Amino acid sequence: MLRHPHRLLPVLMLVVLVVLGAPSVRAQDMARGRELYETLCGDCHYQRVHERDRAKSKVQTLLELRAQVKRWSVQTRRSFSEQDLADIVEYLSVSHYHLEH
Ligand code: HEC
Repeated sequence: MLRHPHRLLPVLMLVVLVVLGAPSVRAQDMARGRELYETLCGDCHYQRVHERDRAKSKVQTLLELRAQVKRWSVQTRRSFSEQDLADIVEYLSVSHYHLEH
């Protein structure tokens, strides 16, 4: 079957690059999300909102987190890009909600 194994090499290299690259990309998004959150969202409810009893939280899934972030972003009266929202979701998800990606 693998008569030209060398043809797989570029594919393998790509996979390695993506795997190696992923953590730094995520870290960057998270740092940005954290900054956005702390400067624009933090005033109102601080982090304790996110640390309350998990059973009472409106956020049980990543989808719900996205919905809440979108909903609350309106309260800041600023416009957020899709990327901004995704970064904030990433930050809150990793730092507070520990949701599966
Ligand atoms: C006007 C004040 C205010 C601002 C601004 C605000 N929030 Fe909130 N947020 C709240 C309050 C109060 C609650 C809890 C009330 C509730 O759950 O109905 C809440 C709840 C949440 C929740 C759900 C918490 C849970 O676990 O149930 C998320 C997620 C959230 N906010 C994210 C954000 C993000 C992201 C921003 C900035 C884009 C933001 N909020 C800006 C007041 C605010």
